[in-house]
Amino acid sequence: MTADSLVPDYLQSVYRWAYLTPWLASLLDRQPVVQAILWGNAQKLADGVLAEIAPGQRVFQPAAVYGDFSRQLAEHVGTEGRLEVRDIAPLQVALTRRKLADLPQAAVARGDAAAPREDRLYDAVACFFLLHEVPDEMKGRIAAAMLSLVKPGGKAVFVDYHRPHPLHPLKPLMRTVFDRLEPFATGLWNREIEDWAGPPAQAFTWRKRTRFGGLYQTVVAERR
Ligand SMILES: C[S@@+](CC[C@H](N)C(=O)[O-])C[C@H]1O[C@@H](n2cnc3c(N)ncnc32)[C@H](O)[C@@H]1O
Repeated sequence: MTADSLVPDYLQSVYRWAYLTPWLASLLDRQPVVQAILWGNAQKLADGVLAEIAPGQRVFQPAAVYGDFSRQLAEHVGTEGRLEVRDIAPLQVALTRRKLADLPQAAVARGDAAAPREDRLYDAVACFFLLHEVPDEMKGRIAAAMLSLVKPGGKAVFVDYHRPHPLHPLKPLMRTVFDRLEPFATGLWNREIEDWAGPPAQAFTWRKRTRFGGLYQTVVAERR
C-alpha cells in the first residue's frame, strides 16, 4: 500500500500540489505564507479560536494547518490540557508531528474527519479551514462528526471562508481562485455551517462572527 492510496480522491485530484507534494508543503508550512494566503488575517482568526478555549482543556483538531496554529493551540491548553490532531494525509501527519514533537500535551495521528464517532470526549473541537476543502457531501458529514465529539457544555469552533460582502474588492479574485484551485469552497458561500451539520445541530447554540468584509467566518456551536 502506498501513502497515496490512503488519501481520498478529492485530495489527490484537487490538492495534490498543496498537501501531498513534500517540497511545496515545506514551503507552504510557514506562518508568513499562511498570513499572506489569508490576506493578513491568519493570526486574528487563530486568536479567535484561542479565545474560545481555556488552558487545561482537551481539544480535538481534525486536520493539520500550515504554520504555527497547532503549536499555539497546544501551548494555550498547556501541559494540564491535551491537543489531539488528526489528518488524512501521511505527509501532513509527519509535518505536524515534527512541529509538535517537544510538546507532551500534543498527539498527532492519521484519521478521517468524516468518519463517524460518538465519543463526546472533548471540551472543544477546532476545525480550521477544513470544510472549504472537501466536497459538499462531506461538509455535512464532517460538521456532524465534529459535533459528535463535543462534551455537554463544550463547543466546536469552525473557522473558514464565508460569502464576502457583494462589493468586497477581493470577491472577483477570490471567485477566480476558488474556480481554479479550490472548487469546493463556494459551498460555504451558499449555506451556513449549522445547516450543513443537519439534525445534530439542534443540540447546540450557534453564533457566528464574520471578518474582513465577510470573507471569513468563525462559527461557535456550544452543546447545551
Ligand atoms: C485543515 S485544511 C487547512 C488549510 C489551510 N490552507 C492551511 O493553512 O493549511 C488542510 C488539511 O486538511 C486535510 N484533510 C483533507 N480532508 C481531510 C479529511 N477528510 N480528514 C482529515 N484531514 C483532511 C489535508 O490533508 C490538509 O492537511
